[in-house]
Amino acid sequence: MKSDGNIPAPAVRRLSLYLRQLEVLWGDDRQKVSSRELGNALRLTDSQIRKDLAYFGQFGQAGVGYDIAELTTNIRKILGTDRTWNVLLVGAGNLGSALSAYRGFAKKGFRLVAVFDSDRKKVGKPLASNPDLIVQHIDELESQVKQREIHLAINAVPADAAQQIAHRLVKAGVKGLFNFAPVNLDVDSDVAVSSVDLAVQLEQLSFQVSMTQSFVESEKTRRRRKKQ
Ligand code: NAI
Repeated sequence: MKSDGNIPAPAVRRLSLYLRQLEVLWGDDRQKVSSRELGNALRLTDSQIRKDLAYFGQFGQAGVGYDIAELTTNIRKILGTDRTWNVLLVGAGNLGSALSAYRGFAKKGFRLVAVFDSDRKKVGKPLASNPDLIVQHIDELESQVKQREIHLAINAVPADAAQQIAHRLVKAGVKGLFNFAPVNLDVDSDVAVSSVDLAVQLEQLSFQVSMTQSFVESEKTRRRRKKQ
């Protein structure tokens, strides 16, 4: 399996889409799939799929397609999800609670094993959204990271605490941060950061909608009616 460090990020992102589609096909008891069929399902061209996969190695056979089980195994290996990851969460607030209630992470190999918060009223109590998890005080963070060999962390604290928490996580040995706070985290280059900001995504969506001709027309009509 190739991995030369020069693989474009969009190709890696699309691997997750391929994996999700392969899992659907596997659930339908399918054995083989062509790049065209995968492409049709994902609204991508078959050449895009072949090009993406070629970054990682030689998969599939011309005229026969891909063996679904084999390609699934290979993509999981590439993504590092052929193992189970222990994940911790900092911030047992609204977002943290909602995330901890989602059982889909475990199915993908991400096991939420510890939750931390600085609020003494929350510490020592089970999370309402996932009673298997007892909230621990943030002071326990470093020792738990080491004891439980945790390499991935979800950062769901307010913006003004996010950088300091990121710094502590990295110092403790965490190698990947999933950041929800609306700040650009400053971390060592060997630490992977994935940031999600739904407000930014909504802005992008509103931009795209605002650019469509039909929306521009409907806005003009709305403004005309308002003036009348
Ligand atoms: P919240 O106020 O409900 O929860 C934050 C939790 O973090 C609280 O339990 C608080 O006690 C804890 N906390 C604060 N400082 C801490 C520290 N130094 N150490 C440990 N725990 C600490 O806030 P909510 O709504 O859950 O949002 C959390 C973060 O997620 C915020 O930064 C917010 O802006 C962000 N957010 C991001 C979204 C996105 O799309 N990326 C969507 C919603 C929220």
